[in-house]
Amino acid sequence: ERQKKIRNFSIIAHIDHGKSTLADRILEYTGALTSREMQEQVLDQMDLERERGITIKLQAVRLAYRADDGEEYLLNLIDTPGHVDFTYEVSRSLAACEGALLVVDAAQGIEAQTLANVYLALDNNLEIIPVINKIDLPSAEPDRVKQEIEDVIGLDASDAVLASAKAGIGIKEILEQVVSKVPAPAGDPDEPLKALIFDSHYDAYKGVIVYVRVVDGSIKAGKKIRFMATGAEFEVIEVGAFKPRMSIVDELAVGDVGFVVAGIKNVKDTRVGDTITDAKRQAAEPLPGYRKINPMVFCGLYPIETQDYNDLREALEKLQLNDASLSFEPESSTALGFGFRCGFLGLLHMEIIQERIEREFNIPLITTAPSVIYKVTLTNGEVLQIDNPSNYPEVGKIEHVEEPYVKAAIIVPNDYVGAIMELCQNKRGEFVNMEYLDLNRVTITYDIPLSEIVYDFFDQLKSSTKGYASFDYELSGYRQSKLVKMDIMLNNEQVDALSVIVHRDRAYQRGRIICEKLKELIPRQMFEVPVQASIGTKVIARETVKAMRKNVLAKCYGGDISRKRKLLEKQKEGKKRMKQVGNVEVPQEAFMAVLKID
Ligand code: GTP
Repeated sequence: ERQKKIRNFSIIAHIDHGKSTLADRILEYTGALTSREMQEQVLDQMDLERERGITIKLQAVRLAYRADDGEEYLLNLIDTPGHVDFTYEVSRSLAACEGALLVVDAAQGIEAQTLANVYLALDNNLEIIPVINKIDLPSAEPDRVKQEIEDVIGLDASDAVLASAKAGIGIKEILEQVVSKVPAPAGDPDEPLKALIFDSHYDAYKGVIVYVRVVDGSIKAGKKIRFMATGAEFEVIEVGAFKPRMSIVDELAVGDVGFVVAGIKNVKDTRVGDTITDAKRQAAEPLPGYRKINPMVFCGLYPIETQDYNDLREALEKLQLNDASLSFEPESSTALGFGFRCGFLGLLHMEIIQERIEREFNIPLITTAPSVIYKVTLTNGEVLQIDNPSNYPEVGKIEHVEEPYVKAAIIVPNDYVGAIMELCQNKRGEFVNMEYLDLNRVTITYDIPLSEIVYDFFDQLKSSTKGYASFDYELSGYRQSKLVKMDIMLNNEQVDALSVIVHRDRAYQRGRIICEKLKELIPRQMFEVPVQASIGTKVIARETVKAMRKNVLAKCYGGDISRKRKLLEKQKEGKKRMKQVGNVEVPQEAFMAVLKID
């Protein structure tokens, strides 16, 4: 009976179309929080975090709603992350629901991320409720947007709710549609426990807090549980729901969404997408869709100041507690000293981690250019997995090399088809197919080497389509490629941290561009610095950083002292971001120069 009154849903939207504002309004409307409490809640959380080091993530909120039919319903609103790097997590959050509110801005209409999210929701067989938001705007065109939803997505938009999250219009209608259209959870209370993990976070006091959706059976304190993918077993200490504060409940039953605490020390035991079952009465099969997420992009992180090395390790350890997809191991470089080889889900993930280390832990970093994992087969039959160009074997020992490819699906308006094809071709892409979504939109599919996507693909995609493209990719396997390692020499010394693996046909062009970039980036030194790119012993490109003509201070001789000091300070400021490599000072940007290949 209780199960029939549960509705699990999430909100999907393009960025800025009003997802957070609508979620707040729904919390307010259902009385989960008054607007005053909402502010207090925020303050509370900060206090808590300060006092006890607890991090609270409002990922899933349980709401009570009395509908027009007089019945009281239990609504679980589940949040989703919003970027292609985290598509897998979005997909898991959606798998915990039966329905989704599709929020579309009434002035802007459907945009890139709207589509990407709708497809994920459709993949998970969700009931989609269109909501046209921001109807209060003078530029709102709800009828046009309705038509667009029907034409482009193929959803019936005749019942679309016309809403304004800002003005609080349409909120009740949205909740009524959730109750009447989103199906109650199916699932059998008498079957062995099956609960989907859709998120988790590390809490300093309770250990890992696992966010689950119960599909079959039930879960309560004292029960021995088993994580089906990792095989780890724990005894449940407490279960609860987010109301929105974390509150302990007796039991999570079929259809319920909540959290589980079981003295788990490591987030790695609780992979998103895995199934929790009863250790004593195990489910025969896990829920579908569990996939181990492996890092796809690697780079070296080095502290600029050598003495920050231990702090950097501690920072990475801390970040890893909450992020099972981050990997790292120590590595060293002749040029950069001691650092870590880190693995990430994608470029955004990499940038987030770098930024957090610099900002939250205050450790200035040198980052080397990202690399994918190459499979190198040696002439003696051995196969190596290379994620760092400096470990690339000598040419004579290599039998062949394979690189990872992705299947990339790009959705654009017709006008940009030519631009997209040119871009993909430039990135060594192979055309797979093209399908019309409607008169104005096309899905173009290409097989592209992952390494090419890592090199500024997003930026180029954005600039060549004015941002009006949605892009999604999945790993499609390894293919043999003609790859070579290109080394860079500064002042006749090879700098290991600047080596890259490139396609043979593009080596000359890329070598030339990198040398030109480095020439621009490396400041003049007291002596002339040759910059060379080579493959094996063969130099394929060369530039020269000219020597400084005179001492920079010379022009200040006799001049006023404050100006001289300013100049020295400016130089010192500049130096902070420099790394001494041999006897050449190299700025941080130089290590990323290989990425800028426009
Ligand atoms: P991200 O969290 O960045 O993904 O954005 P979001 O989709 O959650 O959007 P958010 O709720 O932050 O709203 C984006 C902007 O639109 C904010 O400035 C809101 O104040 C504004 N906004 C949201 N809903 C409405 C609305 O109904 N009318 C108007 N005029 N503005 C709105």
